[in-house]
Amino acid sequence: MMNKKFALPRGTNDILPEEISLWSNIETTARSILRLYGYREIRTPIFEETELFRRSMGQTSEVIQKQMLLLQSQKQSDANDMQAASYALRPEGTAAVVRSYIENDLDKKESLSKLFYIGPMFRGERPQRGRLRQFHQIGVEAIGPQSSSPYLDAEVIALGMYLLKAFGISHVQLKINTLGTKEDKAAFYQKLRNKLEPKRTDLCPDCQQRFERNVLRVLDCKNEKCKTIVSGLGLEPDWLSRDSQKYFEAVQSALSDLNIPYKEDPALVRGLDYYTHTVFEISDSSLGSQDAVGAGGRYNNLVAELGGPPVDAVGFALGVERILLAQEGKIKVTEPMLDIFFIAMGEEYEREAFRLLYEARRCGLCADMGYQRGSIKSQMRLANKVEAKYVMILGEEEMRRNEVALKNMRSGNQENVPLHNLSEKLKEILQEK
Ligand code: HAM
Repeated sequence: MMNKKFALPRGTNDILPEEISLWSNIETTARSILRLYGYREIRTPIFEETELFRRSMGQTSEVIQKQMLLLQSQKQSDANDMQAASYALRPEGTAAVVRSYIENDLDKKESLSKLFYIGPMFRGERPQRGRLRQFHQIGVEAIGPQSSSPYLDAEVIALGMYLLKAFGISHVQLKINTLGTKEDKAAFYQKLRNKLEPKRTDLCPDCQQRFERNVLRVLDCKNEKCKTIVSGLGLEPDWLSRDSQKYFEAVQSALSDLNIPYKEDPALVRGLDYYTHTVFEISDSSLGSQDAVGAGGRYNNLVAELGGPPVDAVGFALGVERILLAQEGKIKVTEPMLDIFFIAMGEEYEREAFRLLYEARRCGLCADMGYQRGSIKSQMRLANKVEAKYVMILGEEEMRRNEVALKNMRSGNQENVPLHNLSEKLKEILQEK
């Protein structure tokens, strides 16, 4: 009987060695730009109490209703604390960062915490192009007392746009909107209900429920009929307070000063409950239905709602898989080449080859050897395959003379190097790098 082969869980990806250079290119670029903007990295666990996500993202959000991946402990007796709370894989980074901000009293340690994270997130969605169950985000959160400044909102948006540009993605559309304060949001909620009431039965079954539970979600609906109803509503921001309006105007002026093109979209409300004031989404139409490469906004009440101090916050997250799709394979990152490939022409020379290999690496050269024994021909084929710059051959003839043969794979030239000169030769090769 054949042993069972296991398959990758649906909606996840293996990132193979040949793809890693693209990933690390994105991560390295991101880290250096984030540093320029003053953000520092934070790493939180990939699972948290389910309640944390429920309370922050909102009971009626799609993610909480349908996409949470809950953790279950196997044996009750083993899992005292796992029993007490329900845990879930993190569907996003914001709630976890806020939890950590509160728990570590960051408000007492710094006036503005500018934090970033790069890592996997998990949502039990129906997988499709650009929509995965395990995906990766590059996210930032700027959290601090009295940090509600339109310039910080503009900084965060500009940073998102700048990162995408640095990743080679320039054909993006930025949509922005404001939800105003918590009170403004409540007024909007009421107004929306009034406007939708006569059309209620024409909404899709999901939206009829949303109408009852959280009417803002109707604005997010992808159903064509609901979209037409929403676009016919003539949403005017007349429910916004004067201060909120002024705040949003200042964000827009700051973006214009930086020559960042944007479109105002009154139907952009975002699918998560915690937003107040500015919300935004960056999309790339080449991506098809899952076209959002990043999104974010301000969330001034969340920290207090999760038991922390009354501080303001704003942030965003970009989806790495969608960035890679938007790059369309146009970005090529070359991997470092192997400097030397060692070939032992016979088992008896392997020991010396292995020792010299160690010396080459200690000297700073990228080196390897053919562990699979084989003819010189098959070993040379291996060296060609890994695109080695040099091949060092330890054969009977050379060893008898205390030498090694060194072949330059580009020029084809070959020379014999006495073992006592080897360190010098290795240094010469290092200089060529
Ligand atoms: P979000 O809009 O849910 O916001 O996700 C941000 C980005 O993550 C999306 O624009 C998309 O690029 C990527 N993304 C989301 N779900 C998936 C998926 N299933 N597969 C592939 N990519 C996905 C947030 O997560 C907020 N925490 C952003 C934020 C930070 N707001 C304030 N601070």
